[in-house]
Amino acid sequence: MGAAEFAVAPQPVFVEFNAKITPVVIFYSIMVSTGGLMFGYDIGISGGLTSTPSFLKKFFPLAFEMAQKREKENNNYCKYENRGLQVFTSALYLTALTSTFLASHTTRHMGRKRTMLFGGLFFIVGTILSAAASSYPILILGRISLGCGVGFASQATPLFLSEIAPTRIRGALTNLFQFNVTLGILFGNFTIYTTSRLQNEWGWRLCLALAGVPALLFTVGTILVEDTPNSLIERGHLERGKLALIQIRGTDDIEAEYLEIVKASRIAQEVEYPFADLLMGQNGPPLVIAIMFQVFQQFTGINAIMLYTPLLFKTLGFGNNAPLYSAIITGVVNVLATSISIYSVDKIGRRMLLLEAGVQMFISQTIIAIILALKVQDTTNTLSHGMAIVVVLMLCTFVSSFAWSWGPLGWLLPSETFPLETRSAGLSVTVCVNMMFTFLIAQSFPSMLCQMKFGIFLFFSGWVLVMSLFVFFLLPETKGIPIEEMTERVWKQHWFWNKFMDDGVQESEDSD
Ligand code: BGC
Repeated sequence: MGAAEFAVAPQPVFVEFNAKITPVVIFYSIMVSTGGLMFGYDIGISGGLTSTPSFLKKFFPLAFEMAQKREKENNNYCKYENRGLQVFTSALYLTALTSTFLASHTTRHMGRKRTMLFGGLFFIVGTILSAAASSYPILILGRISLGCGVGFASQATPLFLSEIAPTRIRGALTNLFQFNVTLGILFGNFTIYTTSRLQNEWGWRLCLALAGVPALLFTVGTILVEDTPNSLIERGHLERGKLALIQIRGTDDIEAEYLEIVKASRIAQEVEYPFADLLMGQNGPPLVIAIMFQVFQQFTGINAIMLYTPLLFKTLGFGNNAPLYSAIITGVVNVLATSISIYSVDKIGRRMLLLEAGVQMFISQTIIAIILALKVQDTTNTLSHGMAIVVVLMLCTFVSSFAWSWGPLGWLLPSETFPLETRSAGLSVTVCVNMMFTFLIAQSFPSMLCQMKFGIFLFFSGWVLVMSLFVFFLLPETKGIPIEEMTERVWKQHWFWNKFMDDGVQESEDSD
């Protein structure tokens, strides 16, 4: 038991909850975090799939002809410009960003567990349709179903993880979602590299079918877990919720936490329209943070850089093996650095990781831009071996810093900062903004690269500066704060965000 003291206003006494790190909580977290694998696998195969000749010839003959023409032009910056495949890529993102609002309804009224299960089932159906597609409409129908899977799973999984985790390891367990995203990307990269070498249709069909592996793992995982105590109690299953709490915390001494969830649930039940509520008073600050984190995450340039890396490796002299090398190097760095965030996020905190990464990302992008400006022109490339090594090192520096900061924290912060009544709606807005900006950057990056050339890296480094200032001034530290106490202990204590918490003093006195 311990009391937290604050300099401002009279404060309630906060009780430390008794929570063991139990095998059940670890098992549940490992099972459901595989939701990230499905999302990651799709990111991992998309670039390679849309440049696989047999796939293009079957569904996008015009894009295939254009790709061949570009190959002959051999321009270092304009290779990826190709609008023919937009519908294919956009179908998944647009469905994901709209279906996530339906997922908000199901997470609130049917539970986190069922929403994740729906996500897994959608992904399985999407996998079957796209791997077996004999025509363009079926292929797109498959993409739509996969999009629903991504929308449902990305909405409910971080929420589930942050609700079951004991406070002191909440960051680590929620970051397992992003860890699985990075594993999925790596697995996807290898699969598309290997299968695209098969000459006939079976290559890309096999690649699409293998999305069934993460989908099955996730679906079985969601069947094996119990829903979160917060969700059970919010939906009126008080006894089941209490039992679930005892089971995941590994102790009978859960009364304090149970009562706090019951209190949060009462408030939650009074809220009829969570999306309208998001715009009011105390929901404003977490909403702003959730939205800005998604926008900033994509404006680090991570997806653009991942898409550009194989080309850069080719330019650097890795020849036809460039996609494989870039997949190994950036993919492995991404996975390893994400595990560093799992280890450190609850020790050194969210702010420190983001600020340190900001410096690292800014420096590496600026160095890449300078080297490319000096050495790589439109059709000539005078990079020496030594310089090529520096560029690869800077790419790794960039990817690793993203992987222990904006990557995982883009999911962690929204899942831990909303109060129960708007948590589900808040997560839907998060997924929606994430998909919207991933899509926007993916669509506009090829033309931006073609127009801005090396300047694109300066563009992203400028954004990194802006987001680091945002973190420095406006992001409160949430490490070690129980999830249902964020409003009292974080937002009401912050120099800027407390202005939106007009009932602050009143609430504190009530809780005393
Ligand atoms: C982002 C993705 C990105 C991935 C890279 C995720 O958190 O949302 O857009 O591709 O990290 O690891």
